[in-house]
Amino acid sequence: MKRKVTIVGGAGNVGATVGRAIAEKELGDVVLVDIADQKAGGVALDMYETCPILGSDSRIIGGSDWSAAAGSDIVVITSGKPRKPGMSRDDLVRDNFEIMKSIAPNVVAHCPNSIMIPVANPLDAMAQALFRLTKFPRERVIGMAGVLDSARMSTFIAMELNVSVENIHSFVLGGHGDTMVPLARYSTVAGVPITELLSKDRIDAIAARTANGGAEITKLVGTSAWYAPGAAVAEMVEAILRDKKKILPCSVFLQGEYGIRDLFVGVPVKLGARGVEEIFQITLTPEEDAALKKSAAAVKELVDVIGM
Ligand code: 2OP
Repeated sequence: MKRKVTIVGGAGNVGATVGRAIAEKELGDVVLVDIADQKAGGVALDMYETCPILGSDSRIIGGSDWSAAAGSDIVVITSGKPRKPGMSRDDLVRDNFEIMKSIAPNVVAHCPNSIMIPVANPLDAMAQALFRLTKFPRERVIGMAGVLDSARMSTFIAMELNVSVENIHSFVLGGHGDTMVPLARYSTVAGVPITELLSKDRIDAIAARTANGGAEITKLVGTSAWYAPGAAVAEMVEAILRDKKKILPCSVFLQGEYGIRDLFVGVPVKLGARGVEEIFQITLTPEEDAALKKSAAAVKELVDVIGM
């Protein structure tokens, strides 16, 4: 049966990049929902017209009408204000919370059995807001952050060591903010931890650049990134729709795992047809554990601001 993915904010840069990647991988049909009705229709048509060239039978439509989203398997939520240079992701919390409040009832009404992938910033707090507002089970609300942050870290390791990105596996946990936790011990090149390959100074520089990765792009481009965020969402969509049981770092609602309760924080999870099929608890050193708890505390502060 043909699968359906709705992308809310689909006419925007991140949303359109996700749609394009889904069509390219022929994962299913794509619905771009956006308050910019005409633009969404146009972006969808342009994207649909790439399908004969891609050899993809994904059908793509767009507009502001949620009825087209009915019965979606996955709803990706990219709507929200993007960052401007000098802003932190956290500066968006109140404005984007208002946007999540307008989206949640539509997801519940039109796509009650979907798996939601929140992408709007500040990511973990917006995921928590959507989880609370929709009352979806925690298995079906999976924030995108760790895949993006890990991809950035892998890119920087590849640059540093001049090796194929295919050899690199990076692990970034915690909230999608300045306090994120790039885990050097679990980040490997052909299975070898980077702690064996790089000096502490170089690892610290890579970790800092990773944590600052979104701001680096925002400063260069003038608005927040879209290619890597879009590709990260597409990897999660593929893991779910193809029931791959892939282990990916995602922001999920923790209920005691890692000693964190009632909060969305990035940890390794198994993604498959049911959404989050397992939360992996890896052993952390006291230092790593303290960094994760500090990151969770930063998420908690934002969640408290919006009372979620
Ligand atoms: C980023 O890190 C948009 O939060 C996203 O680029």
